[in-house]
Amino acid sequence: MKEYAQIFQGTAFTSQSPKEVKALKDYLFCIDENGIIEKTVAPEDIEYQDLLEAYQYKDHFHRLSKGQFFLPGFIDLHVHAPQWAQSGTALDIPLYDWLNTYTFPLEAKFSDLEFADAVYEDLVNHLLANGTTTVLYFATVHKESSLLLAKICAQKGQRGLVGKVVMDDPVQNPDYYRDENTETALKDTEEFIVAVKELAKTTKQGVYPVVTPRFIPSCTDDALNGLGKLAAKYDTHIQSHCSEGDWEHNYVRDRFGKNDAFALNDFGLLKDKSVMAHCNFLSDDDADLFAKTGTAVGHCPLSNAYFANSVIPLAHLHSKGVEIGLGTDISAGFSPSIFDNARQAVISSRMLEEGVNTKLPAEKRGVPDSRITINEAFFLATAGGGESLSLPIGRLEKNYAWDVQIIDTALDSAKLPLFDSHENLLDTFQKIMYLVKPENIREVWVQGEQVHTH
Ligand code: GUN
Ligand code: FE
Repeated sequence: MKEYAQIFQGTAFTSQSPKEVKALKDYLFCIDENGIIEKTVAPEDIEYQDLLEAYQYKDHFHRLSKGQFFLPGFIDLHVHAPQWAQSGTALDIPLYDWLNTYTFPLEAKFSDLEFADAVYEDLVNHLLANGTTTVLYFATVHKESSLLLAKICAQKGQRGLVGKVVMDDPVQNPDYYRDENTETALKDTEEFIVAVKELAKTTKQGVYPVVTPRFIPSCTDDALNGLGKLAAKYDTHIQSHCSEGDWEHNYVRDRFGKNDAFALNDFGLLKDKSVMAHCNFLSDDDADLFAKTGTAVGHCPLSNAYFANSVIPLAHLHSKGVEIGLGTDISAGFSPSIFDNARQAVISSRMLEEGVNTKLPAEKRGVPDSRITINEAFFLATAGGGESLSLPIGRLEKNYAWDVQIIDTALDSAKLPLFDSHENLLDTFQKIMYLVKPENIREVWVQGEQVHTH
């Protein structure tokens, strides 16, 4: 019999397709020494009993207790790490004013490595405790503290994709918070990429540098051009904000005479490993360009309710073949939880479909066919996020990383309303998606390593 580094036994949920969730009842998950799922074994498979007999009394055999379930670890496609320090505050003014009044002054403080260390340590702990195993982060313009964030992810076992933010336009950005000039912005980005790639050599779960123009308004043409070239030279991920709200969307149209998507593409910034936050105002041509280039949308439903002046036509974008995942957008989104954002994604889509203005007749109030289900929101939080990042994560299947959260529905202090021992497992799944609190997340594993225990 083949040797496995670890075997886990229990019931798991994973996406079968964007709309369908599969319950894997009492499966065995055989994990190799690299933390990859080498095999999944159903109770009716012939090997099942042999594997159980061989492994069940060994140290590396893990059996879930009654009431516990595996979910794939969540993938957060959009976090501003420094903004954790203002989460839950400052949500009262429009984006442009919010950036200048609250956010840039806060981010400027991350030139101080001690302050950065305190915030970033706490944030990574929080996200892991919320079941988030992979995160696509914006840090700040500062090369050193951006690298510190990558090191903290590496050390805590979270799969971190980290960007040093580029904001080089002296007209658009305050003097106290921007890159000194275009040349230093590109040089710092290149040094950052090289340093993170070095760090990655000793990081089991992976840590990745990300080319990160904040958004078109913060960057000169030369910087955007240079960043496109750096991303190609080092084959990195790319992230930015795209067509988020009225002000930013119109600013780009005034500057380039086209939408963000085509402008970003001209600079070489729409690629398979690109993830663009928000994208509420994508036209159909923009969406086709996203699908063609493999660019993904990082959908941030809580943030959108405050800053995007709109609800994104998510179902429509999905039907056009655009890759989509979920993001918290800390701190424009107040919650560090992807559970909270999955719930809001469903709610916002329902409000888009039904409409909100009761002065209008029902048939004129909304946008038909806009709703998504909680199954689809789960897909976005897991498999969709993995596809967006072009990484083998987000599914509990062969050749995917063992990134899981162990959910306890029977916890004394936070029991889920499960009263029928024969309840359909997919109903239990829905209760988990809607009702789990961080307390119910008992353990979190990344790439076969335990990274959090409650
Ligand atoms: N656009 C540019 N910067 C930001 C940011 O920090 N948050 C959000 N939501 N949008 C942005
Ligand atoms: Fe953002």
